[in-house]
Amino acid sequence: MIPSNEVLPGGVSSGARALGVLDGRDFVVASSKGAWLTDTYGTRFVDYGMAMGANLLGHADPAVVEACIAALRSGSMPGFSNDQESRAADALVRIGGERVTRATFTTTGTEAVQLAIRAARGKTGRQLVAKTVGGYDGWLDNVRFGLVESPETERTNTRPVQLDVTLLRVNDMNDLDELFREYGNDLAAILIEPILGNTACLVPTPEWIARLNALCAQYGVKIISDEVMAGLRTGFGLVADTIGLNADYVSMGKAIGTGVPVAALLGTQDAFSVFADGSVPRFGTYHGNPLVCAALIATTDFLSTADYQTGLFDYGAKMRAGIVEAYKAEGLSVCTAGFDAVFSLWFTETPPATYDAAMAALNPTASRLNYEALRRNGVIALPSPWGRYFASFSHGAEELEVTLAAFRAAAASVAEAKCV
Ligand SMILES: Cc1ncc(COP(=O)(O)O)c(C=O)c1O
Repeated sequence: MIPSNEVLPGGVSSGARALGVLDGRDFVVASSKGAWLTDTYGTRFVDYGMAMGANLLGHADPAVVEACIAALRSGSMPGFSNDQESRAADALVRIGGERVTRATFTTTGTEAVQLAIRAARGKTGRQLVAKTVGGYDGWLDNVRFGLVESPETERTNTRPVQLDVTLLRVNDMNDLDELFREYGNDLAAILIEPILGNTACLVPTPEWIARLNALCAQYGVKIISDEVMAGLRTGFGLVADTIGLNADYVSMGKAIGTGVPVAALLGTQDAFSVFADGSVPRFGTYHGNPLVCAALIATTDFLSTADYQTGLFDYGAKMRAGIVEAYKAEGLSVCTAGFDAVFSLWFTETPPATYDAAMAALNPTASRLNYEALRRNGVIALPSPWGRYFASFSHGAEELEVTLAAFRAAAASVAEAKCV
């Protein structure tokens, strides 16, 4: 018989998902509930991957599960317009405030981003899109460009362009001004994560965002805020609004469905005129089916009345402080970057502000030792030095205790290796 990890190459369908063998044990999840994962050996772990951010409420949230069961019973794929779809759109646009009032569904975040690009091109009649150095906006070729540590992120005299996509550098004013001087009249859109979750939670500064808003308004360039990862993690509103980014389009996914595959594109009335008049087409067999809409409605019902401060932010703040404390006890200075509901750990005194600074600050050895010690002590986090910790509404006192004990072990292991 062919081994199962050869039938399914590497044992996974998405590259970033395989954690590999540690101390002779592989890591394959048998079940997940709340903030915990149970592997095939029956060992339980506090989870900070949270399905790359998809489980903001926690794994297998009971209200979401019940809503999905009911939707399956009444037919999950009617194939025609269904009453759940507009209910879900109404539920979702509550987060958009007064400006961002329109929504349409896709199945994955990758598709939501592509639809935003198509809409922005239709709206402006221009082709070129600028995405951020280090930003991850889905797995398709046009945006699989400028990812962390890729050759095109290196500074050269010419701005790289591939498949009508070019790059810009967050928090670099000169680069922003140069981009618009060179390409301002060719640009359809700027595609940006409001917090660069895939670049260890680099946060754009208010000054840089203000300049970006002003240049986009001046040149008629659309802003796509890619909130697939960070969405709903700063409260029941757009992350773009939290940081002052004037988004025309907002791609969302992951947390809006609590682990059920649903994604969406939101936008202003003006930005969505290309869908309203049919000049930009939308397709997708699974988009907006009753099953995923039920999950979305149950999720937004919870989040719209949730106390984010006590239910989520306080936990993240205590965890961040506890990590710094654990390392300090070993004589090491570390810091965290991002928001309390999603943050990264840096083995530096202050978080890097730019991609170049992040590259210089990267410490793969410390990141690996930290990850391995956490895993040995009952905590699963993302192994990459660019990774991040996702807290959820299911993380509480018990999880915090296990987590901080694991971080004390991790700090000791990193200190012993003298790699910071
Ligand atoms: C910011 C961002 N955009 C887009 C995507 C792609 O979403 P999906 O994996 O659902 O296609 C991701 C996935 O991690 C993401 O983090």
